[in-house]
Parts: sequence; C-alpha cells; structure tokens
Amino acid sequence: MKIGALKETFSGENRVSMTPASALQLQKLGHECFVEAGAGNAARFSDQDYEKAGVTVVKSAADLMKTADFITKVRPPEDAEVKKLRKDQTLISFFYPAANEDLMKSAATTGSTVIAMDMVPRISRAQKMDALSSMANIAGYRAVIEAGNNFGRFFTGQVTAAGKVPPAKVLVIGAGVAGLAAIGAAQSLGAIVRAFDVRPEVAEQIESMGAEFLFLDFEEDASGEGGYAAPSSPEFREKQLECFRGQAPDVDIVITTALIPNRDAPKLWLKDMVEAMKPGSVVVDLAAERGGNCDLTEPDQKIETANGVTIIGYTDFPSRMAAQASELYATNIRHMMADLTPEKDGVVVHDMEDDVIRGATIAHAGEVTFPPPPPKIQAIAKAPPKAPEKTPEEKRAEEEAAAKKALDRTAWLLAVGGALCLLVGLAAPASFMQHFIVFVLAVFVGFYVIWGVAHALHTPLMAITNAISSIIIVGALLQIGSSTTVVVVLAAASILMASVNIFGGFLVTRRMLAMFERS
Ligand code: NAI
Repeated sequence: MKIGALKETFSGENRVSMTPASALQLQKLGHECFVEAGAGNAARFSDQDYEKAGVTVVKSAADLMKTADFITKVRPPEDAEVKKLRKDQTLISFFYPAANEDLMKSAATTGSTVIAMDMVPRISRAQKMDALSSMANIAGYRAVIEAGNNFGRFFTGQVTAAGKVPPAKVLVIGAGVAGLAAIGAAQSLGAIVRAFDVRPEVAEQIESMGAEFLFLDFEEDASGEGGYAAPSSPEFREKQLECFRGQAPDVDIVITTALIPNRDAPKLWLKDMVEAMKPGSVVVDLAAERGGNCDLTEPDQKIETANGVTIIGYTDFPSRMAAQASELYATNIRHMMADLTPEKDGVVVHDMEDDVIRGATIAHAGEVTFPPPPPKIQAIAKAPPKAPEKTPEEKRAEEEAAAKKALDRTAWLLAVGGALCLLVGLAAPASFMQHFIVFVLAVFVGFYVIWGVAHALHTPLMAITNAISSIIIVGALLQIGSSTTVVVVLAAASILMASVNIFGGFLVTRRMLAMFERS
C-alpha cells in the first residue's frame, strides 16, 4: 500500500504524522511511503531526511491525495480534504467524531474509511497506538517546563552562601496520563509535589513517584470505566474545593489536568483560590481546550492577574515540542498500520472484528461506524476495593498468632532434627557425628537468616553468598589431591558449582547496578 503524510494546514501546528524513522518501519511492513514537500520542516525533519529514509517527496497535497491509498494527518481534516477522499482510500488522523459529526458523515458518503486516532480504546494491547496518551504525556511534561519558565525561582531547594532557597511547591490536580507526567517532571526538578485525583487507585502511583497524595476525609470512589473518572457528587466537590482552598496560599505552581471524557472540564481552581496565591505563582491549565479547570483561564492565552499570578491556557503543548510529539504520534500510526498489516506483506486487512481497529474506525464502506460497540476485552480495570483498615487490637492479635505459628514450626524442626541426629548417631562413627552436627546447625541457622530477609533483597543476598562459595572452593582444593576417585570427583564438582555461583553473582550484581546507571 502507498502511505502518504499530508502537511498540516492548521495555523501554528508544527507536528507531522510520519517521520523518517517511522517511514523505515512502515517500509518493513511492505508499504511505500510518501510525504508532502515541507511537511516535516516545522518539526525539524527536512525533505532530504525523508528521501534518505526511502520516502518519496511529493510536491503538493493534491498530488499526494491522488497517489496514496492511506492518508495520514495529525489534526482533524478540513471539510475540503474529506470531500477529496476516494472510496478506496483510508484516512488516519485525530478526528474527535463526537464533536465533528457532520465531517464524519461527509467522510462516510465518500465511501472511504476513516480511522480516528483519538478513538483507540484504552486497553492494554492498544497502548502502543494510544496517541491521546502520547500527546498528554508530552503536555504534562511541557506544562512543568512552561511553569518553570514563568516562575521566577528555582524548583529545587538550595543552601547557598547567599542564603537558603526553599523548594517550589507544585500541586497537580488530576493524575491521569498528563498529570503523572507532570508529577514526574516536577519531582525530577526537585520540587515538593502534591497531587489530587478523584480516583483513589492512583494514590499509590502518585506516592510511588515520591509525591504526596492529598486524601479527603470523604468516602467516595469516582472511578469510571477504562481508567477514566466518573462525575463526583456535589458533597465530594465541596470537600475537594475546601482542600484546594487550604493549599492555595501555600503552593507556588498549580497544574490542572482534570477531565472526564465528553464533558466540559470541571471548575476546580476558582477565582478566590487564584486570589489567595502568592504573587509570582503560576497556574498551567491543561484542560483549557474544554473550558479549563481554572475560573480565569483564557484558552490559548497567558494572562497575569492583578495579584501577580500567571495563568497559562495554551492548548498546543504537544506542538510546542513538535519533534518529540511527531516521533511518538508517527510511532502510534506505525503500530496501527502493523495491526492492519498482519502478514507484514503490504496487504491491509481491515478486520472489523478486532477491538482496536473497530473502536478507532468511524467511517467504513459508506457507513458511519461511530460510536463503536464496547470492546470485548475489559478496559483497564478498576482497582479492587481495599480491605478495611485493621484496628490496633486486631493487628496485635494477628502478630501474636504469626509469632506462635513460627515458634511451633521451630519446635517441630528442632524435634525432627534431634531425632535424625540420634538415628544417625546410632550407626555413624564419633568423628563423623561432630561434622554432621555442625552441618545440621549451619543449615538451621542459614535457613532462619535467609528467611528473615525481605524478598527484594534476595538477589543481592545471593550475590553475597560468594563468601560461602569461596570457603567451599578452599575446602575442595584441599581435597582434590586425594587418592580416592570419588573424593576427587566430588571436589571437582564443588569447585565447578561454587565458581558458577561466584561469577553468576558478579554478573547479576553488575546487571542490577546497570539498571540504576543513566546512559
Ligand atoms: P486523563 O483522562 O488520563 O486524566 C484526567 C484525570 O483527571 C483522570 O485521572 C481523572 O480521574 C481526573 N479527574 C477527573 N475529574 C476530576 C476532578 N473533579 N478532580 C480531580 N481529578 C479529576 O486525561 P489526560 O490524557 O491526562 O489529559 C488531561 C488533560 O490534558 C485533558 O484535559 C486533555 O484534553 C489535556 N491535554 C491538553 C493538551 C494541551 O496542549 N493543553 C495536550 C494534551 C492533553
């Protein structure tokens, strides 16, 4: 098939839907690649870069539309572009079908197929094609950079000769894809990060990133389907606003990303909260496109309030990081093409039984195919409800029961071990018994020492058993000169096995350390 990427016509859009790297991968699937001249310029991919990657550069959009079987874009198409689609053509781009119904119907009447990248279902198998998440990840990261650019202070705390600098305090509201990316970026810059989300299951993710989750003293789980939130009750919202009001005078940067799909963004950072913030503080409202989470956000604008708070409502963060965003978006499209080309032979099979392809297809064979039926595979599951907190008495009783069980097991082991020693002692010579008792005791002590070590430390522990292996090797070396063949064989086997343990331990330790090294 011939796949062609159009140049974006939307004013200020810098991204491109095919990169030289993605084109190389598409060619491996048996496809031919085309790009409109200059399509990658704003994302720093020149026509020469494309040509080097085996892509044919086509002079105009009209020529590309004539040549290609698959047309790729980033932004939703213009009506004029849709009308030019042929029956045998497929368009892949963001489309937002719920908001662009007429455009979708217009596409369906041409008989062409339209794959909306924003409709890829949020199931594990489709993560590599999830362009909304790729873009939200970039937006979250860029929101922190943009906030830093407008915040006249450090993120990290410092003790300098000129005085002590406190770390910046960042509050992230909504810990979906963009929120988690923002938490990661702010945390790595050294800020104190707090975060809130209506889905309690994200608390663990937030805390594992080193940020503090703001818990509300209110029982409500607003987790919806597919990793998205469900609307919360007015009482919950009041509690939430009360919590934010308490945070407003303390935090320096607020990044809001709260959204429930197909709804306007909930207002969460109200005018009085902005007024309570310190001069120089920054609010970055990622939900600006859907009305904004902050009362004072103006979409696509940066404003400064009377009390000196900067509010950023840009809606084009991914386009501001066009090279990175294009790489990720083009990779998402490449994975979609890989699913559409099961035999990797350039032959496309548009399987409407496939959850991902069906979910993203909004027009096919002259029909509007939106909305899709729910995916057969359950989307990212809700976290199971947590068991209720135990009272201190219950915890103590549980600990006592566990200690009693351990004591019983030790008594049994001692009894069985003692009986075995007695039995062996009846037949074996006295010199053997001396070694045997030391051996049994070593096994016993070793078992209890290792049993008490946390699972996470087992691998380093194994690496440290090198010391024991070394003693085994010394013992075996003393025996290997023996005149008895059995002793020589046993000594040789001991040396071999202990050496495997030692060198294996070094290798494992090396690999573990490499995991923490930055390349
Ligand atoms: P997401 O759906 O993964 O995350 C939204 C989060 O908000 C969810 O975790 C949800 O539980 C939470 N939430 C919903 N209602 C809430 C409430 N009342 N209080 C607290 N949390 C609440 O969405 P994703 O992909 O992370 O995108 C976040 C936002 O960023 C969206 O508004 C999206 O349109 C926007 N975005 C903006 C871009 C820009 O350039 N400005 C670019 C890409 C995305």
